[in-house]
Amino acid sequence: MGTLNVKDKIALVTGANRGIGEAFVKVLLEQGARKIYAAARDLDNLKPVIALAPDIIEPVLLDVTDTGHIQALPEKISALDILVNNAGIANACNSTSDNAVEISRLEMETNLFGPMQITLALLPQLKRSSEAAIINLSSIAGISNFPALGPYSATKAAMHSYTQGLRAELADTNIQVVGVYPGPIDTRMAEGFEMEKAKPEQVAIRTFIALGEGTNDVLPDDFAEQMYNVFLEHPHNLENAFSQMLH
Ligand SMILES: NC(=O)c1ccc[n+]([C@@H]2O[C@H](COP(=O)([O-])OP(=O)(O)OC[C@H]3O[C@@H](n4cnc5c(N)ncnc54)[C@H](OP(=O)(O)O)[C@@H]3O)[C@@H](O)[C@H]2O)c1
Repeated sequence: MGTLNVKDKIALVTGANRGIGEAFVKVLLEQGARKIYAAARDLDNLKPVIALAPDIIEPVLLDVTDTGHIQALPEKISALDILVNNAGIANACNSTSDNAVEISRLEMETNLFGPMQITLALLPQLKRSSEAAIINLSSIAGISNFPALGPYSATKAAMHSYTQGLRAELADTNIQVVGVYPGPIDTRMAEGFEMEKAKPEQVAIRTFIALGEGTNDVLPDDFAEQMYNVFLEHPHNLENAFSQMLH
């Protein structure tokens, strides 16, 4: 298993205009990345991020559900060491809501199929790198379903499973595959949650510490770590704990 150092690396971050994606760009910059492709579906929203270091941070138009955008990536990005599959959506929706199937389809497009397609498009570049990483944003709700976000949790469980498969298939390459399983983080996505929230920068910092140590699963905040320990006691213990949070 490799141990990756960010210095002088070339990275791509999806959903880089705000939240955890923006934090990844900032931390990559602080840790000496050579080039950072900041991807977003609206380039205007990226301007403040690019302004942090216009020589290093390059904007990329990327709606992760747009196959045309994804197919254009390899031509623009000829070399890549670190791919951060961060962009995601969450809707307040239970598994029994009338629109649960519709919401699940939408969320799967963004939270799973997009990252899968982007990873496939850029895999040749990552394989050419001497020291590479794929960082997939799942969630602690992907380890056990958080019923207030039932369909979302299912997409994050799918992301977790996909990450495991990818890691197994790429075990003999120079690509480290890391899954990130945050609890509540202080971004727009978690605005409605009245819980203590960790700062988005902490997610990025802990992820790169894990990469440096060769760790595959990142539990970047106290809540995620505590809940994962409950899961390790017995998977049903976490299911019950999350179920009680619904009531
Ligand atoms: N915040 C949490 O508590 C938490 C916990 C666990 C996991 N996560 C995961 O962490 C990741 C980042 O979330 P966040 O908290 O930073 O959320 P956020 O503040 O809502 O930001 C989401 C980002 O994803 C982008 N995005 C959404 N759909 C997109 C699409 N089709 N194409 C391109 N970009 C798209 C958004 O772009 P626009 O500005 O254009 O909408 C935005 O940049 C997500 O995968 C999320 O599921 C978050």
